[in-house]
Amino acid sequence: MSSGKMFFTRRGAIGAGGGLLLGAASTQALAQARVKKAKGTMRVYQVGAQKSLDTLALVERPIPHPGPGMALIKVHYAGIAARDLGIATGRFPVPPGPRPAGLIPLSEGAGDVLAVGPGETRIKVGDRVTSPHWAHWVSGPWSPKNYEADVGNTIDGWLGEMILLPTSGLVALPDNISSQDAATFSGSGVTAWHALHEVARVRSDDTVLSLGTGGVSTFGVLFAKAAGARVVVTSSSDEKLAAMRKLGADVTVNYKTNPEWGKEVYDKTGGTVSVVLENVGPRTLDQSMAACGNNARIVLIGTDRPPPNPPNINGMYLKNLSMKAISAGSRTMLENMITAISHNGLKPVIAQVIPFDEAVKAYIDMRDVDRMGKIVIKVA
Ligand SMILES: NC(=O)c1ccc[n+]([C@@H]2O[C@H](COP(=O)([O-])OP(=O)(O)OC[C@H]3O[C@@H](n4cnc5c(N)ncnc54)[C@H](OP(=O)(O)O)[C@@H]3O)[C@@H](O)[C@H]2O)c1
Repeated sequence: MSSGKMFFTRRGAIGAGGGLLLGAASTQALAQARVKKAKGTMRVYQVGAQKSLDTLALVERPIPHPGPGMALIKVHYAGIAARDLGIATGRFPVPPGPRPAGLIPLSEGAGDVLAVGPGETRIKVGDRVTSPHWAHWVSGPWSPKNYEADVGNTIDGWLGEMILLPTSGLVALPDNISSQDAATFSGSGVTAWHALHEVARVRSDDTVLSLGTGGVSTFGVLFAKAAGARVVVTSSSDEKLAAMRKLGADVTVNYKTNPEWGKEVYDKTGGTVSVVLENVGPRTLDQSMAACGNNARIVLIGTDRPPPNPPNINGMYLKNLSMKAISAGSRTMLENMITAISHNGLKPVIAQVIPFDEAVKAYIDMRDVDRMGKIVIKVA
């Protein structure tokens, strides 16, 4: 989906001691030339006082240099996700309290490796890479320890001309995936992949219900269709539902015109919904349960505000449903997802591409503008 087509209006200095480990001599010269060209400084956004979007600040700071286990990356694109609004305004709860004012935000992005720290062998200068936002979660089960290296939240993120990242998370991109597309992967894409392939183990005989038309849901439709499943999408907009049918959705339901949309989904699918991507959260869980067939798996993804009354979990017993919450995904999940995207030629839905100098507009549009899919920022 190309930019602009899905837009709807509604409202070391080199590690001390000299430690840059570069590839061949020519690569080293190239990397050093690039670092020099940047005159020793780079422009980055900082979260600042985190009082409102007005407290985001564009500043210059020295170009950092990678020590062991780190890489310096020239950023081409950054992606923005729902949680970035909370991080910029001091409302994202984990970890509690304000971030250091100098934190560089945004957990999604892609760019070229300019330099790596001493001893690095897996990642090379010149690789075009992305990273999961849990930079230390390589594989295996989830642990809240992953918050210790959460890109754009507890360590510096992608909203700068360069980024210093742990190499543990870096994944090289195949030639047929653009950096613009890859800047949507580590928050939205890998979350949908984790839900469908790691939790639900989606198969062609599944019917997948994906709520909404945002970043996670649009990836959910792409991945569920690539697995051969039948797909149901809900939205507040008939126009966006039509666009989701073009993307592959088989059944669509407007949740705004029908507040009891769960029954409509159940009736239209003959009670066959077997997987739910619950992209809103507890607020829509009653309707999601009503939409389910017996024994369905609900993957809890959305962290939208809580409902006035807790969901009635009787539906879980009645239909023998299961539910699992997830937190984006690991490097291994990201690698598997990138392979599938590359093999199938999948294109993320990108609603807007915003220039680096206007990055605050990306936040404002994320908050205020009705859209389908992702907003990305072109850095260089
Ligand atoms: N657990 C995790 O690891 C994880 C990872 C990524 C995101 N998230 C969370 O998942 C949620 C979705 O993220 P996103 O990036 O896709 O957000 P997004 O791009 O802002 O999309 C939000 C979507 O929610 C839909 N929506 C709102 N109310 C709805 C309702 N009552 N029924 C159905 N859909 C409804 C909207 O659909 P329409 O506009 O079509 O009406 C909109 O497309 C957010 O809460 C985010 O924080 C969690």
